[in-house]
Amino acid sequence: MEDHINITYGRNALQELKEVLDAKHYSSLFVLVDSNTETHCLPRFLEYCPVVPTAVLKMKAGEEFKNLSTCQDLWEELSVQGGDRNSVLINLGGGVVTDLGGFVACTFKRGIDFYNIPTSLLAMVDASVGGKTGIDLGALKNQIGIIREPQGVIIAEDWLTTLPQEELRSGFAEMLKHGLIANPSYWHTLKSIPDLSAKNLAEFIQPSVAEKTKVVLEDPYEKGLRKILNFGHTLGHAIESYYLTHPTHPRLLHGEAIAIGMVLEAYLATECSGLDHATAEEIKQTFKGFYPLISITTADQAAILDLLRHDKKNKGGRINFVLLKAIGAPDIDVEVPQALFAKAFDYYQSA
Ligand SMILES: NC(=O)c1ccc[n+]([C@@H]2O[C@H](COP(=O)([O-])OP(=O)(O)OC[C@H]3O[C@@H](n4cnc5c(N)ncnc54)[C@H](O)[C@@H]3O)[C@@H](O)[C@H]2O)c1
Ligand SMILES: [Zn+2]
Repeated sequence: MEDHINITYGRNALQELKEVLDAKHYSSLFVLVDSNTETHCLPRFLEYCPVVPTAVLKMKAGEEFKNLSTCQDLWEELSVQGGDRNSVLINLGGGVVTDLGGFVACTFKRGIDFYNIPTSLLAMVDASVGGKTGIDLGALKNQIGIIREPQGVIIAEDWLTTLPQEELRSGFAEMLKHGLIANPSYWHTLKSIPDLSAKNLAEFIQPSVAEKTKVVLEDPYEKGLRKILNFGHTLGHAIESYYLTHPTHPRLLHGEAIAIGMVLEAYLATECSGLDHATAEEIKQTFKGFYPLISITTADQAAILDLLRHDKKNKGGRINFVLLKAIGAPDIDVEVPQALFAKAFDYYQSA
């Protein structure tokens, strides 16, 4: 892992990318898109960064395709198109494309260069930065993967104009998380954003990336500090997995699931980390203001807790949480008595 992360901003940085790629004399250049970014982003990408791809690789859009079978198709396509160790892959898409594309690049021929061009808010402020690549294993999220920084990340807010509203809201959850774990004044600013439009959110992308980058540079392999980025994710991932595979429940986006996770974990923090009740309430009311309340039955809760026990952060069968002592003061490796989980769900569902 390097001592800095190569992130550049804006449409100009996409023009500069063309020069960087030319200078590196790659043997072939591949661009990975999903079915949405092919339509909404690829034409503009080729205009801003006028490269001539050897091939455009395509995957279906959605978390359910972030799996080994998609990787297999892409590895084969790279191979058929003559990809070699000196090829480069450009991931143009949301967090699914950057996570999966990064993993494909890290494994094809034991690793080729790749660049991330995040096109969703969530990928800009979170997924494309920090070197975690990977795929899901059945219902279990991000079970297979590698940590390696891309050669570069180019963040341009231009893409957000075509991003659906609920996807903006999903990415916003990670931004609120950055405030909660690291920066109280950032939390207070974000909390009072009147509505989640691309225009209102654009100026907050760089501060969020800065919070994440600080953490990742200090602890790239998640030995300690980096765990704070998992606030809301221990329960949030289990909720996301459950809704992803449930035959009739509506799907929850990543950020929507971790928004619930953060409210649940704020409650756990009042019991286990000394978070004061007024702050937990402030967190709950803020999330309720931005996200619809999801009704989670006791049967749902039992299934979610089953999935939780498989979470990758379990060590020796214990379930460890990142909680908060206060806003901006995370508390890592907290073991939570399982009897509190039902109370946390009650807290989330109460007014
Ligand atoms: N690696 C990490 O550190 C990290 C961190 C957070 C999240 N993640 C992962 O990121 C994923 C979620 O990312 P996501 O929310 O970006 O999901 P996503 O990639 O599925 O993108 C969301 C949707 O928006 C569409 N889209 C993307 N950009 C668009 C644009 N500009 N215009 C129109 N449509 C567009 C996509 O096709 C998709 O349908 C999850 O798999 C999560 O595990 C990874
Ligand atoms: Zn997340």
